[in-house]
Amino acid sequence: MGMYTRHFDDIRAHAQRLSATRTMDLFTVDPNRLHALSRTAPHLFLDASKHKIDAAALEALYGWARGADALGFLQRMAHGDLVNPTEDRAAMHIALRGRAASPAIAAEISAAERALNAFSDAIAAEVAAGKLTALVHIGIGGSDLGPRLVTDALAMWRRPGLELRFAANIDGADIEDALAGLDPARTLVVVVSKTFTTMETLANANAARDWLRAGLGREDVSAHLVAVSAAPARAIAWGVAQARVFPFWDFIGGRYSVWSAVGVSARIALQDGVFARFLAGAAAMDAHALEAPAPDNAVLLGALVQAYGRVGQASASYALIPYARRLRLLPAFLQQLEMESNGKRVSIDGARLGASACGVTWGDVGANAQHSFFQLLHQGVDPIPVEFIVCAQTEGPASQRAGLLGNALAQAEALLIGRTQDQALAQLRAAGLDEASAQILAPHKTFPGDRPSTLIGLEAITPESLGALLAFYEHRTVVQAALMGINPFDQWGVELGKELASVIAAEITAGGASGARHDPSTTAWIKRLSQPS
Ligand code: F6P
Repeated sequence: MGMYTRHFDDIRAHAQRLSATRTMDLFTVDPNRLHALSRTAPHLFLDASKHKIDAAALEALYGWARGADALGFLQRMAHGDLVNPTEDRAAMHIALRGRAASPAIAAEISAAERALNAFSDAIAAEVAAGKLTALVHIGIGGSDLGPRLVTDALAMWRRPGLELRFAANIDGADIEDALAGLDPARTLVVVVSKTFTTMETLANANAARDWLRAGLGREDVSAHLVAVSAAPARAIAWGVAQARVFPFWDFIGGRYSVWSAVGVSARIALQDGVFARFLAGAAAMDAHALEAPAPDNAVLLGALVQAYGRVGQASASYALIPYARRLRLLPAFLQQLEMESNGKRVSIDGARLGASACGVTWGDVGANAQHSFFQLLHQGVDPIPVEFIVCAQTEGPASQRAGLLGNALAQAEALLIGRTQDQALAQLRAAGLDEASAQILAPHKTFPGDRPSTLIGLEAITPESLGALLAFYEHRTVVQAALMGINPFDQWGVELGKELASVIAAEITAGGASGARHDPSTTAWIKRLSQPS
């Protein structure tokens, strides 16, 4: 029997048992339902009551969590155990938030933190003096998405006088756009790469270095370069001064790394003390995730509800809809965090999984998404769970607050209650439609409802709440992995494509496929794309 198969069967049986019941009716039979399916955590309130889970299903979910020792896995991670055996390492990102597994790690991290703060202060002084006006951050995946999200989300706390640009893609348009109009003499280029071998990042870094050299008219442009890497020798060999290479340890996964030196651009671009507040928010969530008992733990309930949708109700994806412009980059960040962590098909011991460990994470900011793909969410054949994020405090004209929040709550309510065909008919008749036309239109105006959603509430978007929210998602991802018995810290699935890409790129450069190692379609495409356009 595969890992946790008994729990998968159990959860499926509960979902099957409840399939004929409407979630709305569960509210009627259990007046305590909202309380039973809500949790409070630092800076965050989680309401999972719109999922079709009753007391017995919830108990089965907690039974699964106990059977998989889901919270124990978080503890083992915190203790610095070898939770990433396929890469032979621990996963110690929470050490960056004051929870080091050993005094030696704590000392190493605080030394790096001191160096980073001193460097950021020096750069801030240059910005204040007008000597530095732009920072170009180069990196991809975990070396890009976190700093991009944090600086965008905390735009209200940005340091004045510094233009911040990002380049990630190997599409040359990315670096061209990032450098366009900047003054090389007053630009700092920050190259972030754990391995310092990533094709996209090195290509962009080379282009930026060439741009600096051409603009400054000299070969040594190291005064404008900074690197963050776990391979400092490679960064130094590439041209960064040793004192400007900040460490990135093996025990910090790329997608869990925004708290480290990977966030140096955010430390610099945000006003003094803001990054420390972001770390403090994450630390508060760490305390909750690691110390709150299972029944009170918001991270655990969040993971169980997600697992219920995927394993119990066979949901292939969920839509993440923050009703907050400041969180518009959160879906992209979470796509990497969740899908690169848990997009696995074998358990930690190599056995095939008996259920999907990760659905597709996708989404966009609300209310914009309502006017784009919500049609599918309301009336498509397959129900797709939705995760809404709302913030009690909003920016801009106070008159727009109710519109934003009202839209969010209305979507969640509409997904839950739907509209029956009889109700649609009654509405059409009341609008004066003749009976024949009303009968024709009614099926199109019917909403099945009974579609699950989670509501996450923040008081406001602040450095602390953003830190707490991202830490919540990190822990939820790890707990999800524990429920499935997989390793959330490796990412071997990205390697095959990387290997083939370097071969094909060389062939395109050389003007055509060099051998018969490709499939016929790929060979034809290499030929087609090798022709000068
Ligand atoms: O290709 C995936 C990946 O390895 C991610 O895990 C990582 O965040 C990204 O590439 C960038 O890697 P690096 O920081 O080594 O350039």
